Amino acid sequence: MNSPETLFQQRVDAEIKIEARDWMPDEYRKTLIRQISQHAHSEIVGMLPEGNWITRAPNLRRKLILISKVQDEAGHGLYLYSAAETLGITRDQLFDQLHTGKAKYSSIFNYPTLTWADIGAIGWLVDGAAIMNQVMLCRTSYGPYARAMVKICKEESFHQRQGYESLLALSKGSAAQQKMLQEAVNRWWWPSIMMFGPSDSESTNSEKSMLWKIKRQSNDDLRQRFVDATIDQARILGVTLPDDKLKWNEERGHYDFGEIDWTEFWNVVKGNGPCNKQRLEARVKAWNEGEWVREAAMAHAEKRKKKAA
Ligand code: 3HC
Repeated sequence: MNSPETLFQQRVDAEIKIEARDWMPDEYRKTLIRQISQHAHSEIVGMLPEGNWITRAPNLRRKLILISKVQDEAGHGLYLYSAAETLGITRDQLFDQLHTGKAKYSSIFNYPTLTWADIGAIGWLVDGAAIMNQVMLCRTSYGPYARAMVKICKEESFHQRQGYESLLALSKGSAAQQKMLQEAVNRWWWPSIMMFGPSDSESTNSEKSMLWKIKRQSNDDLRQRFVDATIDQARILGVTLPDDKLKWNEERGHYDFGEIDWTEFWNVVKGNGPCNKQRLEARVKAWNEGEWVREAAMAHAEKRKKKAA
C-alpha cells in the first residue's frame, strides 16, 4: 500500500492540483504558507513606494493610472492572504508576522522612490520581473495559489506596460527628463534582478519547491529570462543599463551580465535596506489606525448574522 507521501508525490507528478482539503506533507504546507504570505506582504508593502507619488503625479491621467495600479496591488494582497488562509493560518497571524518583522517581503520594496521616473521604473522593471515569476506560478501545484495567480497576472501586464509607457514619454522629453529617467534606471536595475532571489546554488528552498512543483523554474533561469527580455526595451528607451558586463553570448543564446552584489541583497533581506524601518513603521501605523474600521466591519457582520439567524 503506497504511503501518503508517495500518493501525494504521484498527484504532483501527474499535474493534479493539490487542494486545501487534500492530504499534504507538513513541509509542503509550511513552505507554501511561507512563500504565499511573503508574496502577499510584498503586494501590500509594495503599495507604499508607489503610493508616495499619487499626490505628485505629473498630470491627471498619470494619477488615475497610478491610483488604479496601487489599488490592484491591494487586491493582489487580499487574494494571496486568502490563499494562505486555506492552509490553516489566520489573517491576524499573517499580519502579526509582518508587523513583528518575522515574515519577509520582497527586498525590492525597501528602496526609495526619489523621482517620478522611479514610478515608471518600478512598473517596467519590478512588475516586469514579478510577471516572469508570477506567470510561472500560474502552474504551481497548489490549486488556490495557481488560481490566484491567473487574475493577478492579467493585471500585472497592465502594470508593466503603464510603467514602460511612462518612461517612453520621459525618453522623448527634455534633457532633464531623460536624465531623471537614466538615474531611475541606474537605481532600480540591480535591485530588480535581485528580486528573483539568491543564485540557485545558494537557494535553500528551491530543491523541495521544484520537487513539489511549487516552483517550476529556478531563480537563475527566471532572472536570465528577465534580463534577456529587458535589454531591447532598454534600447528603445535610449537608456544604458548600469552593467558593463552585459553582452550577448551567442554560444549560450543569452545575455551575460555582471556579478550581483549579494552582500547588498542579504543586507536588505535582513532588514538593513534604505527603507526597511520606514516600511514596517508605515504598515504598523496603518494597522493600528485601521482598528476602528475592522471593528465596525466585524460588528456589522455580526449584526447581519444575528438578523439572518
Ligand atoms: N526578498 C526577500 N527575501 C527573499 C528574496 C527577495 N527578493 N528572494 C529570496 N528571499 C528569501 C526567501 O524567502 C528565503 O528565505 P526564507 O526561507 O526565510 O523564506 C531565502 O531568501 C532563500 O531564498 P530561496 O530562493 O530559497 O527562497 P524561495 O524558494 O522562496 O524563492 C522567491 C524566492 C523566488 C521570491 C519565491 O519565494 C517566490 O516565487 N515568491 C513568490 C513571488 C514573489 O514574492 N514575488 C516578489 C514580490 S511580488 C511583487 O513584486 C508584486 C508586484 O505587483 C510589484
